[in-house]
Amino acid sequence: MIRPILKYGDSVLHEKTRIVDAITADIDRLIDDMIETMYAAPGVGLAATQVGLPLRVFVVDISVGRDPKGLMIFVNPEFVERDGVQLEEEGCLSVPGFNATVMRPMRAVVKGLDRHGDPQQIEGAGLLARAFQHEMDHLDGTLFVDRLRGIKREMIVRKIHKLTRAGKW
Ligand code: NI
Repeated sequence: MIRPILKYGDSVLHEKTRIVDAITADIDRLIDDMIETMYAAPGVGLAATQVGLPLRVFVVDISVGRDPKGLMIFVNPEFVERDGVQLEEEGCLSVPGFNATVMRPMRAVVKGLDRHGDPQQIEGAGLLARAFQHEMDHLDGTLFVDRLRGIKREMIVRKIHKLTRAGKW
């Protein structure tokens, strides 16, 4: 089932998330729905906060469904390593219509559980490292807009406030 994606300003998006204690039927359903919602959007990643649940779960597929091995599901993820720097344009399904250049690690290793509760560790470089960092940020209540500084951030926040007041956000 496709779930509605919350937008910047919704309180859940700005909350810290809780560890998942057990992969219950509800969590299993949440993961299925997150995958469906991500592909329908379409997007390369989605965190549980974006569908209103402050839990440490994210899904990523930088191939957006084209590569059958592209889908990654992380429960209770943590960084093992991060290094290097990349600067690329980035967007977010919770901040539709806006993009900005964000500094991210060039390489990131994430460990956590897969959807069956088995441990997994995955190394990402380039776009995958960027996606990992972006989704990990969501689990800390941070959106890419929060990573920006100065005028770029102000411009986006001001436009969002304007859209919100107009009932278009
Ligand atoms: Ni996002």
